[in-house]
Amino acid sequence: MPREEGSVLGTTSDQITETVLKAVSGTPNRRTRQIVEALIRHAHEFCREVNLQPEEWLYAAEFLKRCGDISDASRHEFILLSDVLGITMVVDTLAADVPDGALEPSVLGPFYRAGAPVEPNGADIARGEDSDGEPTHVFGRVLDPHGDPVGGAELDVWGTNANGLYENVDPDQPDYNLRGRFYTDEQGRFELWTVKPVSYPIPVDGPVGDLLAATGRSNMRPGHLHVIASADGYRTIVTELYTDDDEYLDRDAVFGVKGSLVVRYEWITDEQKVIVSPRKRPYWELQRNLVLTPGRRSIQFTAGREEQAR
Ligand code: BEZ
Ligand code: FE
Repeated sequence: MPREEGSVLGTTSDQITETVLKAVSGTPNRRTRQIVEALIRHAHEFCREVNLQPEEWLYAAEFLKRCGDISDASRHEFILLSDVLGITMVVDTLAADVPDGALEPSVLGPFYRAGAPVEPNGADIARGEDSDGEPTHVFGRVLDPHGDPVGGAELDVWGTNANGLYENVDPDQPDYNLRGRFYTDEQGRFELWTVKPVSYPIPVDGPVGDLLAATGRSNMRPGHLHVIASADGYRTIVTELYTDDDEYLDRDAVFGVKGSLVVRYEWITDEQKVIVSPRKRPYWELQRNLVLTPGRRSIQFTAGREEQAR
């Protein structure tokens, strides 16, 4: 049977690329076609640029297999790989499109847990002993770009304890420790107590750890408080607030830090304030307004909104 024109690979690598592109040219879905074609073009060009050797390609395939092998319901090594290569931040930033002064996105990370308890404003989400960390008061307002209050906005916050561990990977912490959902009042105000964020390492016992070691990089993340801010009529923003005095601020293993997300905590020792604080000892204080961008609320993070605290 005569071969169909186009099914025979050429002899040069460029001809191979052309043949493969032709093979996917009939992809019915336009977006799928755009993505697959670009993937082929860039992947082939990558091989040519570094003159990739067969044993190196095999190593890469084994690396990806190891990413799969170490992943389970609570560990996603491919996402971690995307994080340490900065791909997550590129994708999030491309999708961001928020005006100047509005809350910018940052990485979600693998430790998010949906369904955190809804708390009244002023509640302390350090549900463990004082060993959770240094008491910290966080308050501010959620505003629209004109400075008007956004009432009923949800802030889903979570963080580690002083040991740099999230409660879902630490059997010694109470359930949902250092996690909670808060709703702004009609003036857009929110208020909560937690602990001051500390820097902590991302997991390096898998292939991503090998990649960090091979490239001489740190596996530390600067201290941060995770926030998902959402409200009807506004874009849901998944982000983090980074502590300004953290030594890892300029070398975050996952490149999440943006200037507008760096915040300063004040050390409060005033006796009158200390005595009425939940832990009755000096504490850190962060006052921070969050400006939301009008748009469509994401349905991904809105489960359980009916439990809104009154
Ligand atoms: C985190 O902040 O929880 C995180 C983000 C990316 C990778 C690992 C951890
Ligand atoms: Fe984190």
